[in-house]
This record gives sequence, C-alpha cells and structure tokens, in this order.
Amino acid sequence: MSYLQHPVEDAKPVRIGLIGAGWIGSFHAESIALRIPAARLDAVADPDLPAVEALAGRLGVSKISADPADVINDPDIDAVLIAAPVRFHAGLIGAAARAGKDVFCEKPGGRTVEELDEALDAADTAGVNVQFGFNRRYAADFAAARKLIDDGVVGTPQLMRSLTRDPGTSAGIANPERIAPGTIFLETLIHDFDTLNWLNPGAFPVRVHAVADALVAPEAKAGGLLDTAVVTITYSNGAIAVAEANFNALYGYDVRGEVFGSAGMVTAGGPQESSATTYTAAGIGAATVRLNVDLFREAYTAEVGDFVDAVKARRDGALAKGRNRPGGADARNALAVALAAFRSAESGMPVDVATIAALLPAEPQFHPVGETA
Ligand SMILES: NC(=O)c1ccc[n+]([C@@H]2O[C@H](COP(=O)([O-])OP(=O)(O)OC[C@H]3O[C@@H](n4cnc5c(N)ncnc54)[C@H](O)[C@@H]3O)[C@@H](O)[C@H]2O)c1
Repeated sequence: MSYLQHPVEDAKPVRIGLIGAGWIGSFHAESIALRIPAARLDAVADPDLPAVEALAGRLGVSKISADPADVINDPDIDAVLIAAPVRFHAGLIGAAARAGKDVFCEKPGGRTVEELDEALDAADTAGVNVQFGFNRRYAADFAAARKLIDDGVVGTPQLMRSLTRDPGTSAGIANPERIAPGTIFLETLIHDFDTLNWLNPGAFPVRVHAVADALVAPEAKAGGLLDTAVVTITYSNGAIAVAEANFNALYGYDVRGEVFGSAGMVTAGGPQESSATTYTAAGIGAATVRLNVDLFREAYTAEVGDFVDAVKARRDGALAKGRNRPGGADARNALAVALAAFRSAESGMPVDVATIAALLPAEPQFHPVGETA
C-alpha cells in the first residue's frame, strides 16, 4: 500500500513578523501559528529576548531578534503585527509601511492624532493595508448587533452604552504606579469609543464629557492613576452615548454594548462563560469569564484572519473585502474621542472632539462576495 497523490493548492501563506512578544502579542502569535492556516509566523522581535526565545521556541519560529527593524526590513516578510507598547506604535507603523509591509497594529494607533496621521500618511503613500486591534467588531454578538442596526431593526440610535470592566481580584490592581496616566481612556475605553462610533454608522462623535477617579487604588491617584471612568458622548445625529470602565471587576471580564433607537434596542456582550445557569438553594448562578483572551478568543483570531485576507487580496490585486475591518480613519476617530475624554476628565469641562482633530468618515464597508449591504 502506498499513499495516493492528492493535489494541494500552493496556498502561499502570508508571512507575518510579530513585533512585541508580550501578553497580547503572544496570543496573536499563537493565532497566526496555530489557528490561521493561510498565515505563517515567520519572525518575532522584542527587546526582551528571553520572551522572544520562549515564544519562538514554543511555536517553531527560527527568525528572532531584539530589534523590530530586522523584521521590518526582512524581504521575506509580507506583513507585520505590532503589539509593542503604545509609545512605539506610530513610529513602527510608519517604518513598516515605508518598507512596503501591510500592518496590523494593536490599539491605540498612537499617543496623538498628529503622530498617527504621519503613520497613516506613510501607509497611504505606500498603498499598504493598515488594520487596528478593535477586536469587539469581530465578536459574533457585536457583529450581529451592527448588522441589525444596518438592517434598520433598531431605527435611529438615540441612547447608546458600552462598558469595559477589566477582571480583578480582592488584592486590587497590581503595581498601579506602573499604569501610565490616561491609560483608562487611551487603552481601555478606546475599545468602547470605537464600538460606539461603529454602532452609530454615518454619525460623528461631537462632544465628550468625562468623570474619572481612582476608586480601586486611591493611593495611586496622586501619581495620576484613574481606574474608574464614565464618559458621555453626543453624536452628530443626536444620539447620546455612555461609556464606562473600571479596572477591577471581581466577578470577571465584563464587556457589554447596547443601542436603543427609534424602533427598538439591541444588546451584546456580558461576562457569562456560557448560557449554562445553575439553580440551587443558594440562588441562580453562572460561571464568568476571567481573561480577555478567553472572552475574545474567537474575535482576536478572526480579526487577524481578516487582516490576512486583506494582505492576500492586496498581493493578488483584489479588493480587500471585509465587513467590519477597522482602518486608519476608525483608529483616528476613536483616538480623538479618547484624548477628548482625558482632557475633559482633567478639566471637569465638556470637550468638543473637533478641538482634538477634524474627524474623517469611517472606513467604507466592503461586503463579502454574495452579500448585499
Ligand atoms: N485588543 C486588546 O484587547 C488588547 C489587549 C491587551 C493589550 N492590547 C494592546 O497591545 C499592546 C501591548 O499590550 P500588552 O498587554 O501585550 O503589553 P506587554 O507589556 O505584555 O507586552 C509588550 C511587549 O512589547 C515589548 N517591547 C517593548 N519595547 C518594544 C519595542 N520597541 N519593539 C518591540 N517590542 C517592544 C516588551 O518587551 C513586551 O514584551 C498595547 O497597545 C495594549 O493596549 C490590546
């Protein structure tokens, strides 16, 4: 007995270099190496070489470096995934774009709209794809909510809500003094700002009013920590939104969204691990999800899979179709809201988003073949 020959299409996997091998970079690396057949993890760079060696060893990656420039200038790499700290994002996007690489970058795209604009200009000039890590768009329930809004089921949005409660413990926040001021707006609530912008298609965020405090770790407030925040956003179509966050939900990782409109309401998200619910003498109960990489495992994988599709499309000279793909304008609009919210929390006054940046229309939505808008 011998094997029969089975024709296998040369899939030419998209070769990706990872920049930043920390918490989320490691998860994305696993997605590329293990869960996205059309992609291959070809190289990993991070100044923390032991972290790179551990990750690359586990996933069978032979090209490693302490210097992101090695990945960016590698002619065998098609695209880079940036999961380094925020202060490096804009510079790395620009450098990768100038080297002709497609770019997936974690949020936020930069610390200021100006540095993000420079990076996006470089990407425009090079004609490369740039996608940002707004993974909620890829969660099945949030994507279904957007589709229902597109289909008119909710009518015109009037009240909107989005919340992020990061998982915590009774010990409180570990090393709160190491959390940079503004993190709650720039790295946490920026997910909510993108979600709200995206769930109100065609409208712009106009005015932001934020109230924030250090209620979990009050001793770190003097160092600039804000661990609890509520932000109201008014939109150009009149909708009024509330975004809120806290860094220490003892019951798990809790992400929810809600759009109430002239025709009804749609909700998405929640901390329950599954729909299994116990009914006992103690009451009604359900297990909760503890980690972002558990709650959003599929969504994180899907967003990188969608990016890989866009890289392949550019390589093949085709239109990069994607229903929900967050691009430069989306990253810019969410960042402008985050910066306005930070400024508002500091001053106690409402802030017009236009004082941060003139916003751009959201990315056009290309619909997958066979689907209508
Ligand atoms: N989308 C999400 O849900 C999500 C979740 C977590 C983190 N993030 C974002 O991902 C980014 C990284 O967060 P993290 O939690 O993984 O942080 P982390 O601290 O765990 O990892 C950051 C890694 O970057 C490395 N690094 C430092 N300087 C570098 C450089 N110049 N070039 C390359 N690598 C460098 C560090 O050594 C570290 O290994 C942040 O922007 C964060 O907001 C997004």
